[in-house]
Amino acid sequence: MQNDIKQVLYTEEQILKRVSELAADIKNDYEGESILMVGILRGAVMFYADLVREMDMQLHMNFMAVSSYGASSQSSGVVRIQYDLDEDITGKNVIIIEDIVDSGLTLAYLTKTLKSRNPKSLKTCCLFDKKERRRVDFKADYVGFDVPDVFIVGYGLDYAENYRNLRYIGELKPEVYE
Ligand code: IMP
Ligand code: MG
Repeated sequence: MQNDIKQVLYTEEQILKRVSELAADIKNDYEGESILMVGILRGAVMFYADLVREMDMQLHMNFMAVSSYGASSQSSGVVRIQYDLDEDITGKNVIIIEDIVDSGLTLAYLTKTLKSRNPKSLKTCCLFDKKERRRVDFKADYVGFDVPDVFIVGYGLDYAENYRNLRYIGELKPEVYE
């Protein structure tokens, strides 16, 4: 598995340090409130688990699973919800926890969908942001790292469902996916 990695971009230590900073920012912004943390399966699981354990406050955990309809590069912006929330979010402070924003299509769709369910507030938190790849205007509220336009894996992020269990974030060798 390690042989497919061109270089390590973020070590486990660097990731955990940034995750605890994000947890502190969120905790600070929601003083005295409770939060529903909505993790997007499966990429966000490692980030999610580390983030919530750094937050010393009342919060609820729930999950959704989505996939880009049509797959690959030419997504139409239609995102399919494979597994929806099993609770009503009306009047709740919701934060969507996602691994990475790329074109922005997934989160633009998800925020639109969840907003229509009348939460008290809705924000997004992403560990990685590939800003230069944006196809729709979308800005996350909390971002861990801005990353260049290279394909990254590990810490929950996959290529063809592999590499999610790496402890670090690595740049995948192009020959693996070309
Ligand atoms: P978007 O709708 O284009 O913003 O897509 C976001 C999704 O694309 C993420 O949830 C990831 O599943 C996937 N993705 C985008 N870039 C990468 C990457 O570098 N590594 C792994 N997955 C990625
Ligand atoms: Mg994903």
